[in-house]
Amino acid sequence: MELLKERILQEGQALSETILKVDSFLNHQVDAKLMFEMGTCFKKYFENHGVTKIFTIESSGIAPTVMTAMQMDLPMVTLKKQSSKILKGEVYQTTVHSFTKGLDYELTLSKKYINENDTILIIDDFLANGEAALGAIRLVEEAGAKVAGIGIVIEKSFQPGRAMLDEKGYDVYSLARVKKLGKGLIEFIEE
Ligand code: G4P
Repeated sequence: MELLKERILQEGQALSETILKVDSFLNHQVDAKLMFEMGTCFKKYFENHGVTKIFTIESSGIAPTVMTAMQMDLPMVTLKKQSSKILKGEVYQTTVHSFTKGLDYELTLSKKYINENDTILIIDDFLANGEAALGAIRLVEEAGAKVAGIGIVIEKSFQPGRAMLDEKGYDVYSLARVKKLGKGLIEFIEE
């Protein structure tokens, strides 16, 4: 998505060789029109995949996902992050380890919002090691539903998540694929 790549080049800051800060339009302040354009791109790619619901993971995945759900006219579900296992309630839960943040959390989905006839599109803001995406996939598959694919706003292609999801056979579509980060340097994979 050219517009996104331009914004990343104009406003993104490579904080290190692994972390890209995009607080001005995605992770803190949110550019709603840009989110809408993201929704248009995700719809174009996934509209013939038989999707019945769109899942995201709180919190920065919500804005691009709500725009996609609106344009695809589908329900959206936000997977919640809980710090510990909750014992009551009819939920699917799985532990996810975040290498970027160095912590574990319980990804949680109410059984009310999925069934075995669903085909789920998972959308998230960043793909790094792929642990959050894998956690979401586990919840979908535990419910007996299918994964239609994974939509990512910014993929850090130099980290293991993309290759791992490709190897497992999931259909991953990223709006921007970052090849390299460094001081004053942001490079994309050109497609
Ligand atoms: P993974 O799922 O691909 O394994 O990624 P990881 O757990 O390592 O990422 C943890 C959190 O850090 C996620 O946010 C992810 O969006 C964010 N993140 C990873 N790499 C970057 C980066 O280069 N830049 C920025 N800005 N964020 C990054 P989160 O904990 O889910 O928080 P939220 O922002 O969605 O609330």
